[in-house]
Amino acid sequence: MKFTIAIVGLLLGAAQGQTFQRLGTCPTFGCIFPPDQANFLLGQFFDIRLEVHAPVNGTEANGKLPDEKFTFTVASSSGSPAPAASFFSVAEPALERWNFTWYEDLFAQDAKTPSLVNVTSKAYRRVRFTAPGTYTATLNYNNGSTTKATWHVRDLPKTRRAKNVILFIGDGMTTNAITAARLIGHKMVNGYYQSKLALDTFPVIGHQMTHSIDSFITDSANSATALYTGHKSTVNALGVYADSSPNKFDDPKVETIAELFQRLVKGAVGIVSTAFLADATPAALVAHTRDRGQYGPVVDSFFNGVANYTWSNWTGVDVLFGGGAENFYNSSLGGLTYLNRDQYAEAKKKGYGVVYNNTDLQKLPNNQRALGVFSVSNMAKWLDRNVFTTNLKNQNNSADGLKKDAIDQPGLKEMTLKAIDIVSARSNGSGWFVMSEAASIDKMLHVLDYDRALGETLELDDTVRATIAKLKASGQLNDTLIIVTADHGHGFDVTGSVDTKYLQAQNTTRAKRNAVGVYQNAGLSQYVMTGNLTYANDSHFPSNWDPRYTLQQGVVTFPDRIEDYMVNKNGPRTPAVNTSAALDNYVANPKEHTHGILINGTLPLNEAQGVHSLTDVPVYAMGPGQELFGGTYNNIDIFYKIAEVYGLSGKGL
Ligand SMILES: *[C@@H]1O[C@H](CO)[C@@H](O)[C@H](O)[C@H]1NC(C)=O
Ligand SMILES: *[C@@H]1O[C@H](CO)[C@@H](O)[C@H](O)[C@H]1NC(C)=O
Ligand SMILES: *[C@@H]1O[C@H](CO)[C@@H](O)[C@H](O)[C@H]1NC(C)=O
Ligand SMILES: *[C@@H]1O[C@H](CO)[C@@H](O)[C@H](O)[C@H]1NC(C)=O
Ligand SMILES: *[C@@H]1O[C@H](CO)[C@@H](O)[C@H](O)[C@H]1NC(C)=O
Ligand SMILES: *[C@@H]1O[C@H](CO)[C@@H](O)[C@H](O)[C@H]1NC(C)=O
Ligand SMILES: *[C@@H]1O[C@H](CO)[C@@H](O)[C@H](O)[C@H]1NC(C)=O
Ligand SMILES: *[C@@H]1O[C@H](CO)[C@@H](O)[C@H](O)[C@H]1NC(C)=O
Ligand SMILES: *[C@@H]1O[C@H](CO)[C@@H](O)[C@H](O)[C@H]1NC(C)=O
Ligand SMILES: *[C@@H]1O[C@H](CO)[C@@H](O)[C@H](O)[C@H]1NC(C)=O
Ligand SMILES: *[C@@H]1O[C@H](CO)[C@@H](O)[C@H](O)[C@H]1NC(C)=O
Ligand SMILES: *[C@@H]1O[C@H](CO)[C@@H](O)[C@H](O)[C@H]1NC(C)=O
Ligand SMILES: [Zn+2]
Repeated sequence: MKFTIAIVGLLLGAAQGQTFQRLGTCPTFGCIFPPDQANFLLGQFFDIRLEVHAPVNGTEANGKLPDEKFTFTVASSSGSPAPAASFFSVAEPALERWNFTWYEDLFAQDAKTPSLVNVTSKAYRRVRFTAPGTYTATLNYNNGSTTKATWHVRDLPKTRRAKNVILFIGDGMTTNAITAARLIGHKMVNGYYQSKLALDTFPVIGHQMTHSIDSFITDSANSATALYTGHKSTVNALGVYADSSPNKFDDPKVETIAELFQRLVKGAVGIVSTAFLADATPAALVAHTRDRGQYGPVVDSFFNGVANYTWSNWTGVDVLFGGGAENFYNSSLGGLTYLNRDQYAEAKKKGYGVVYNNTDLQKLPNNQRALGVFSVSNMAKWLDRNVFTTNLKNQNNSADGLKKDAIDQPGLKEMTLKAIDIVSARSNGSGWFVMSEAASIDKMLHVLDYDRALGETLELDDTVRATIAKLKASGQLNDTLIIVTADHGHGFDVTGSVDTKYLQAQNTTRAKRNAVGVYQNAGLSQYVMTGNLTYANDSHFPSNWDPRYTLQQGVVTFPDRIEDYMVNKNGPRTPAVNTSAALDNYVANPKEHTHGILINGTLPLNEAQGVHSLTDVPVYAMGPGQELFGGTYNNIDIFYKIAEVYGLSGKGL
């Protein structure tokens, strides 16, 4: 899918309304990364990047040559400023130079008149703080200009409170999606639900703010970076602050929870996702690049850590389950891998059990590291694996690269429960960390396939329920913190019901709109039917996905589309199609629901899909440390709360 980098922000007072930035988080000509207000875990490794900008042309041109003599100091609240090299006891880095261009606004972009900026820079690699407190970093440049950053090194309790943490991420999952999933998956009598979501049983719930460092709308790369590192970042960036250099791998890194947990306590780490495994949410646990599209290097870092750079002694992830086979098999089978490696063969060499389907997944030994890749690209959706199963055919997406159909795919539940078996067996008393992502809540909301998104939401809930039961049965429940949250939202909600039979019988768009029932006429959910609990009995899924009276559901902004408010029986939706590859001009997909309502879009013409939204997202917590998760806080705080519960602050110093 497409990620347009809409570089949003403001540029000094003069340019109000400006939505392009020369470089995010750097409104002046002197840049410090991590920038002002950054937070740090005590003992966490990070890089520092300094940049001095000399605009060559454009409205900012200042005629100055790029400063080569800038200085940089760091001071604790009680100490005097010391040059960074001596403060952190590292060698003074060499001066770097590059230039880049950017558009000052939409007019410049239309006219193709970029502005050129000359840069001088230095990077201090792999430093860390050894005492908590507030620090002031100061960059002096251009003979008298100053950029200051206040850095907060948190002083967290050091006692470990939980042996294990499982972090569930419903990608793009909002309270609205959870509410709608409950409505279609659970039976209600006179306004009283007869059963609950597993999420409804959590004792603590909070809210996290998802905005990124230089834009109020986030993507999954920079929100995952925030959740896993305690540092805000930029759209498309994984485990780094985004600098302006052309090299996609030299951006200043920050150590992740997975890296810290393995480095400091030698715990076992498991990563599970229904997305392709190089995708942002799994990738951000180990990868460090400003470009989430670097799929080959991302996959390599699961096994080998960051390439060409001494960052950590990462020994490889213990469990890796998901899709995205095309980044594991090499070009001989049509794959795209780092240095054309056959990553399956490399993993086997490193002692991983490698499997391509659910049958073999269940047979994996628990004491061995495991790689399970179950399809090309994103894995099949719950609705297609369980209800419209013919959609699994003719996909030529088998994970072995042999272009068979990946029919025998596990769901999130099967992958997560097996991952827990393996990390439990491999933790050697040090505990484990598992991240389990229901990726296609987001992917299906992007393509406006609401039913599939709700199926994925119910699958996540079912996985959480099974996880609680499993931990209880194995005696690990009281030692395991369970967190369920999201990385960002979509502007999704339900506003009523739709009589799909009436809608189809009408011939005009205006008449079709009368098929919608609001308030009183919305009625009750028709998805869970009395006496037909095919899925609903104990698994809490709808018994009928195709009732006459469906939900009127939608998102606040969208491309052109044709809506009929019925389940898409032939597989995930394609709401809009491009009329011009050159112009990126998306219109409603004419093949979709010819009897539906044409609804014209509100998004830029190059958006093929729905987009992320601003909303805070919920955080559910159960287990040791659960009380830390109540209230409203920033997404970076999730990292510090997990680090606190694991007792990682200051460890190893
Ligand atoms: C910008 O950098 C490139 C590559 O380093 C260099 O070839 C080019 O001359 C520079 N452009 C200007 C205008 O300085
Ligand atoms: C930097 O700017 C100077 C003056 O504009 C130009 O001569 C030089 O080529 C530029 N260098 C780089 C690396 O961009
Ligand atoms: C700025 O300089 C770049 C590189 O030389 C050039 O491509 C661009 O057209 C210039 N833009 C303006 C607005 O002068
Ligand atoms: C720096 O600024 C001072 C005072 O403003 C001036 O005297 C000096 O010449 C400047 N030095 C350079 C290298 O521009
Ligand atoms: C690491 O270095 C090798 C050899 O120079 C190069 O081929 C590869 O692209 C580099 N990897 C990354 C991720 O930069
Ligand atoms: C890797 O481990 C060795 C031995 O414990 C240690 O000396 C070295 O500093 C570690 N390197 C990193 C990058 O953590
Ligand atoms: C690609 O992988 C296949 C299967 O492991 C192997 O036989 C082949 O040599 C590899 N090709 C390259 C170019 O590494
Ligand atoms: C699972 O994968 C193995 C290895 O490719 C294959 O031999 C087996 O037939 C597959 N089983 C199913 C049920 O697809
Ligand atoms: C959890 O239960 C086990 C077994 O009953 C006990 O040994 C352990 O101390 C408990 N852990 C906590 C955090 O209460
Ligand atoms: C819609 O058009 C068809 C064919 O012209 C016609 O038979 C039908 O009565 C129309 N329906 C309504 C509700 O006007
Ligand atoms: C029960 O639900 C299934 C699955 O949606 C459906 O195929 C079947 O027709 C339903 N049976 C009745 C009696 O409604
Ligand atoms: C509505 O969208 C269709 C394409 O999906 C387009 O042909 C039509 O011009 C649009 N109408 C308006 C008013 O934008
Ligand atoms: Zn998304």
